Amino acid sequence: MSKKDTRRLIAVSNRLPIVVKEEDGRWQLEAGAGGLVTALSPVLKGHRGMWIGWPGCDEAAPLDELVGRFAAEEGYGLGTVPLTQEEVEEYYEGFSNMTLWPLFHDLLGLCQFNPRHWEAYVKVNRRFAEVTATRVEEEDLIWVQDYQLMLMGGRLRELGVKNPLAFFLHIPFPSLDLFRRLPWKMEILRGLLEFDLVGFQTLRDRRNFVACARELLPELRAEVRRRTTLLRWDEREIRVGHFPISIDFSEFNNHARSRDVADAAWYLHEHYENRQLILGVDRLDYTKGIPERLLAFERALERYPELHGKMNLVQIVVPSRTQVPEYQLLKDQLDQLAGRINARFGQAGWIPIHYMFRSLDRVQLLAHYRAAEIALITPLRDGMNLVAKEYCAASVDNNGVLILSEFAGAAEELGKGAVLVNPYDIDGTAEAIRRACTMEQGERQRRMRMLRASVQRNNVHRWVEYFVNSL
Ligand code: ADP
Ligand code: G6P
Repeated sequence: MSKKDTRRLIAVSNRLPIVVKEEDGRWQLEAGAGGLVTALSPVLKGHRGMWIGWPGCDEAAPLDELVGRFAAEEGYGLGTVPLTQEEVEEYYEGFSNMTLWPLFHDLLGLCQFNPRHWEAYVKVNRRFAEVTATRVEEEDLIWVQDYQLMLMGGRLRELGVKNPLAFFLHIPFPSLDLFRRLPWKMEILRGLLEFDLVGFQTLRDRRNFVACARELLPELRAEVRRRTTLLRWDEREIRVGHFPISIDFSEFNNHARSRDVADAAWYLHEHYENRQLILGVDRLDYTKGIPERLLAFERALERYPELHGKMNLVQIVVPSRTQVPEYQLLKDQLDQLAGRINARFGQAGWIPIHYMFRSLDRVQLLAHYRAAEIALITPLRDGMNLVAKEYCAASVDNNGVLILSEFAGAAEELGKGAVLVNPYDIDGTAEAIRRACTMEQGERQRRMRMLRASVQRNNVHRWVEYFVNSL
C-alpha cells in the first residue's frame, strides 16, 4: 500500500496467521507457516489493518484473550471465523484440499469431486463474508486471499457491502482444459468476477484465467491494458492482473547477517564437516516434488561417484494437512525413500541425506539458508515459492546456487540467475546438482548477485503497493 494511502486494509484468508497450542496447561500463540503468512504479516503490521480467518484451534482455547494479546504485540487485529469439525473435513480438507488444490496444481488424478464438499465450500464462504461484513467500515479495502475463499465476493455484494473488493490467488490458475473438468466451474468463475480486482502470481495464470472467462462466458468482453486486462461482464468492470508475491527482503537480509544466525550457520558447517550443503525446505506437500528430488539426488550419487562424501542433502519438511490421506501417504513415501538411499550410499562418517520432519525457528531457518551452498527447490507446480526468494535474501555471502523448478511461479523472475530444471526429468536434475556442486566461485557470485538484486527490487512492499494501486 502506498504511504499516502490511509485506508484500512481488511485481509481475509482461510487460516489466521497463528498457531494456537496448549503446552503444560498454558495456551500459547505462535506465528503460522506458509507463503501467505510470510507475505502478508509485514503488510498488516505496517498499516492499522485487520486479518479475518479461521483460528484453526480447539474450541476450549481462550481465543478472545489470545487475540487481544496478539493485537497488542503485532499491531494489527484479528477477526475469527470458527468452523465445526464437519466443516473442516468437508470445506477445508475436502473441497479446498482434495479438489481445488490438486486441480489448480495440474494434478487431475488426485482430485475428488464430491457434491457434499462443494456444498460445505459454498456455506463456509458465505459465513466468511457475513463475519467480514460486520467488521468493515466505510473506507476499508477488502482483500480476500486464496483458493479457499473464491465465492466470498458474491455474498459480500448480496449483503450490500460497497467497499472495493479485491482477490489474490496464491496458487496457479489452471489451463482451460483442466478448469473445465470442475463440475462447479461456472460458479467459481462467476464468483471471481464479483471482485473489482482479481490478481494472479504470473502472466501465465492471468492468461489462463482470461482464456477460461472468454471461453465459458461468451458475452464477456476483454480488453488488454498495459498492466491489467479489463473484463466487461454483467454491466461491471473487473480488472485482472498478475502481481508476483514476494518477501520482506531487508528483514531476511539483515537478520541473516546477525550474530545469532552467523553463529548458527557456522555450527551447521562444523556439524557437516565443511561438506557442501544442498538444502530443501518445504511444507509436506505432493506439489513440492520431494520424492522426485530425492530420486534425482540418488541418481547424482549413482552417476557421479566423485561427489560421495563431499556433500549432504539437508531436507527439512514442515508437517502440513496431516488429516488428508494423500499427505499421510507422502510422509510414508519420504521416510522410506530417504532411508533406502542412505542405506545404499552411506559410509562410515558420511550419511548422504539428513531428513527432518519439523518446523524450524527463524534463526535456524536463516542459518540453514545462509550455510547452504545450494538450494534445491523443485516443485512439480507452485504458485510462486517463497522459499526460493528467502534463500536468495539470506545468501548474504553471495555464494549460493539456486536450482529451481521451471514450474514454480518464481522461475518467471528468477530464471536468469537460477539453474532451471524440469523436476520430472530425474537425469536432468541430477546433472544440475553436479553442475551446482562444481560451479566455480565467479559464476556462483555473478548469479547470486543477480538473484538478490531481483528479490530486493521486487519485495513484498512493492507487491502490495502495486496491487492496491491497481484497484
Ligand atoms: P507454500 O506457500 O506452498 O507453503 P512457499 O515456499 O511459498 O510455499 O512458502 C513456505 C513458507 O513456509 C516460507 O515462508 C518458509 O519460510 C516457511 N517454511 C517452510 N518450511 C519451513 C520449516 N521447516 N520451518 C519453518 N518455516 C518453514
Ligand atoms: C499455501 C496456500 C495457503 C495456505 C498455506 C498453508 O501457501 O496458498 O493458502 O494457507 O499453503 O496451508 P494450510 O492448509 O495449512 O493453511
